Amino acid sequence: MVTARLTIDPHFAVGDINRRVFGSFIEHLGRAVYDGIYEPGHPTADENGFRGDVIDLVKELGVSAIRYPGGNFVSGFRWEDSVGPKAERPRRLDLAWHSTETNEVGLHEFATWLDKVDSELMLAVNLGTRGTLEALDLLEYSNIPAGTALSEQRIANGKTNAFGVKMWCLGNEMDGPWQLGHRSADDYGKIASQTAKAMRQVDPTLELVACGSSSAQMPTFGEWERVVLTHTYDDVDYISCHAYYEEKNGDLDSFLASAVNMDGFIESVIATADHVKAVKGSDKTINISFDEWNVWYLDRYHDVDKVEGIDNWPIAPRILEDVYSVADAVVFGNLMISLLKRADRVTSASLAQLVNVIAPIMTEPGGPAWKQTTYFPFALTSRLAKGRALEVRLESPTHSTEVYGTVPTLDAVATHDAETGATALFLVNRSRDEEAVVTIDVAALGAAKVVDAQTLADDDVYAKNTLQDPERVGLSANDTARVEDGVLTITLPPVSWSAVELQA
Ligand code: AHR
Repeated sequence: MVTARLTIDPHFAVGDINRRVFGSFIEHLGRAVYDGIYEPGHPTADENGFRGDVIDLVKELGVSAIRYPGGNFVSGFRWEDSVGPKAERPRRLDLAWHSTETNEVGLHEFATWLDKVDSELMLAVNLGTRGTLEALDLLEYSNIPAGTALSEQRIANGKTNAFGVKMWCLGNEMDGPWQLGHRSADDYGKIASQTAKAMRQVDPTLELVACGSSSAQMPTFGEWERVVLTHTYDDVDYISCHAYYEEKNGDLDSFLASAVNMDGFIESVIATADHVKAVKGSDKTINISFDEWNVWYLDRYHDVDKVEGIDNWPIAPRILEDVYSVADAVVFGNLMISLLKRADRVTSASLAQLVNVIAPIMTEPGGPAWKQTTYFPFALTSRLAKGRALEVRLESPTHSTEVYGTVPTLDAVATHDAETGATALFLVNRSRDEEAVVTIDVAALGAAKVVDAQTLADDDVYAKNTLQDPERVGLSANDTARVEDGVLTITLPPVSWSAVELQA
């Protein structure tokens, strides 16, 4: 058994939690759109062909903004293909995922679906194979009320009111050699700045995201952010971060400590952005849009999933359909803790992705939709983390890992909503074999009571939810949580993620 201590005090505020941190991502990739959110023949399909069971699960998940339409896909995408009469939309090669894009679902259909799931649209423009003019065209089509060629085209296509998209990504992963139109930091910085300036001539209130690094392991990491922000500092609001984690070579200890890497990634990007701020003598602060994060078994994609062949361009192939375990969900929950720990600077984030493709929601054509293990920490964190994120001053034992060296065995963050008095605590026990007893000083909350405590854990850390056994893994009430004399205690099983809801 290990022990740890922490304190919850509303005075230890890190920053307000922006609801955009609970965003997600839908890319035209694999079965995310077709046979995912959209399946006209499905028994639950609505008048637009969208699956009702998926809509219900997305709503319950509590997703704020959804990034669209890519990802790598966007760097070869011509947005004009995806609007207008469906029968006239061209089928195109999607070079990013070696598939055929039918364009049956495009901007209008996706916006209709977003209304149904109560989420905001976060749109990415193609700065890989296209440029400033096409971005301006898309902006005019989407956001100008009426009276110009493209706004009138939108109206003729059935949308009288503008889409009013506020948040825009200036390309995707432009630092990655795999990206169509991959550029140097200098070249990308110039086109991002030029495009951002032009877009802001249309609407100065747009919120713009410049591409940061595809991961902290990229050889250009750090320098990429410095150069890109040197070009774009005055023109954008966010620099993006992307990070995916997977268990490699059976090294569960290192995998369970993945959030240590995410913490370091966030700190480095903040430091780099603030360095550029200092050099420029600016009083503006650039925040982070962590617009791709998840557990992803990328090696499996390269070894098993990858589609190839000049005569093989399938529509919606089953690719990137990772099936997540309890251990994956614990790491996933810990990544959410990392995002909240820097709520002051991580003000937008997108879980990549949402349905079928490295997703918390899976579907079977004509069949059911079900929750993966990762669904549970996302849904509960999104529901409970309200108000401000609090630093918890955790005193945790440590253990050693192959990849990340010595790491804290526990990790935690708390949130507090001053208006309602609701407080939430999120905890992870990274130990593979030891329970953790955590003592939490909650005296500063007044007479706090435990409303609920839920834990995700299992004797089999590799247990998963599947089509055959969709409810194998779920949350369980943690009955060890209790408050006595201003002290909350809770016992956390090995390899577990927990959330405690407190009310003053
Ligand atoms: O989310 C899957 C892919 O991961 C995205 O298309 C790309 O941006 C990233 O490399």
